[in-house]
Amino acid sequence: PAVWFLLYPHPRREVTEALVRRAEGAGCTALVVTADSPRFGRRTRDLRNGFDDLPPGYAAENMRDLPGTPPGTLTDIPMHPAASWRDFAETVGATSLPVWVKGVLHPADARLAVAHGAAGVIVSNHGGRQCDSAAASVDCLPAVVEAVAGAVPVLLDGGVRRGG
Ligand SMILES: Cc1cc2nc3c(=O)[nH]c(=O)nc-3n(C[C@H](O)[C@H](O)[C@H](O)COP(=O)(O)O)c2cc1C
Repeated sequence: PAVWFLLYPHPRREVTEALVRRAEGAGCTALVVTADSPRFGRRTRDLRNGFDDLPPGYAAENMRDLPGTPPGTLTDIPMHPAASWRDFAETVGATSLPVWVKGVLHPADARLAVAHGAAGVIVSNHGGRQCDSAAASVDCLPAVVEAVAGAVPVLLDGGVRRGG
């Protein structure tokens, strides 16, 4: 009943906004901006499996018919390597949906998220999929909770997908 949309900020603002409109139209009740993936991490499992792009016949459906040229490959889908808190605040201002930030591990970032209008913060290291041996989200949780000081809800993911 409550579907949230995970939004990778796109380098072109009109594409990000088109994705936001699409999520609103689909009845999503919140947006979650992923802040820890300015580009794909080195995913050794994908490398081992020879996975480097979508197989023939599959498409990035969320990206269909958006402004500009559709991405040529999976790895250039929608990541904005220079996304900033200003971009985040623009997204907050461009929708009436609550906008969360996912991928926060440091209390200073948590405070910035709140200052820029985040409706909530998700403490996450992306399941270790982005940066192997990143800090464990559960270790980072107490400092983030203290920094947020009850201003917005704080969620945590996740389990352990990578030994590192
Ligand atoms: C197959 C797969 C795809 C994922 N895709 C995304 C994504 O598109 N955006 C995102 O922010 N996180 C993505 N994640 C990360 C998850 O949202 C989550 O942060 C991570 O899996 C850690 O939580 P967990 O251990 O409880 O699953 C993905 C994870 C998996 C396993």
